[in-house]
Amino acid sequence: MSKVWFITGAGSGIGTGIAKAALRTGDRVVATGRNLDKVRNALRDVASEKLAFVQLDVADEAQAKAAVEQAMKQFGRIDVAVNNAGYSLLGNFEEMTGPELESQLATNFYGVVHVMRAVLPVLRKQRSGHIINISSMAGVIGYKHCAAYAASKFAVEGLSLSVAPEVEQFGIKLTLVEPGFFRTDLLGEQNVKWPSEVIEDYANEGKPKEVWSAYNGTQQGDPEKLGEVLVKIASIANPPKQFYAGSDAVAGIRQALESRLQEIKDHEALSKSTDGSF
Ligand SMILES: NC(=O)c1ccc[n+]([C@@H]2O[C@H](COP(=O)([O-])OP(=O)(O)OC[C@H]3O[C@@H](n4cnc5c(N)ncnc54)[C@H](OP(=O)(O)O)[C@@H]3O)[C@@H](O)[C@H]2O)c1
Repeated sequence: MSKVWFITGAGSGIGTGIAKAALRTGDRVVATGRNLDKVRNALRDVASEKLAFVQLDVADEAQAKAAVEQAMKQFGRIDVAVNNAGYSLLGNFEEMTGPELESQLATNFYGVVHVMRAVLPVLRKQRSGHIINISSMAGVIGYKHCAAYAASKFAVEGLSLSVAPEVEQFGIKLTLVEPGFFRTDLLGEQNVKWPSEVIEDYANEGKPKEVWSAYNGTQQGDPEKLGEVLVKIASIANPPKQFYAGSDAVAGIRQALESRLQEIKDHEALSKSTDGSF
């Protein structure tokens, strides 16, 4: 059966890849973004009556509600809601200001919260639906210069893994996607944010901007292929709760989980020594 997709941040990268893949299978797509001209432009080659464009800055809760209402008016249902919109604030934690950190969470975490709060009543009423939250390898592993971004993605993981068992009873599925490095605009000069303060003590370790900018344009992951894989995942009866996208994500997350298991083994007796007696 053809599905209706609701995608945030559909004007570039992974969001555009998902929208195009869904349209190729004959599904309908509500492509949202805060700059609608950009979204229209990214999808101009696939424009049809199966594609609707809706304004949505995910940091704005009222816009999320209005966008879901507009999607319902347009297509009458939502089957797959993809929380994809995001950006990265990179750099040493101490050099970030409070407002810079808050903005990162406002988009990457509260953006997901706003869309989930708007879309869950629809899916609950339908007694079906699938929420796909685009997290990151940095939502499972902490990285240097990634404190703000990783915190926002870890928060998305905790939110998703906790809401999933609450809504399963209504036929609602939830999948977290943890991509490795994908060749998109995420690390582009115009998108990535850097802390505005400089603390000289950190200078010895080099400039985070130089380290991270080197990845831009050289990432292995293909957002079009990820789009196709997510369309497949949306058609599985029991989709994965966490999906690792790309061989770098598979290797990195496997190593992180194995070393965590090892830590459990290494300190198991100490861990259990905190148990109280009845
Ligand atoms: N590429 C990677 O290596 C990678 C790895 C792990 C996870 N991810 C995640 O994948 C998702 C998609 O990123 P991408 O790699 O495709 O990068 P991208 O090409 O920069 O796409 C991000 C999209 O999010 C939109 N966006 C940002 N803030 C928004 C807001 N407040 N409201 C609505 N839209 C907003 C951007 O729109 P504007 O043009 O308006 O800014 C842009 O279209 C992100 O959540 C990212 O964290 C990416």
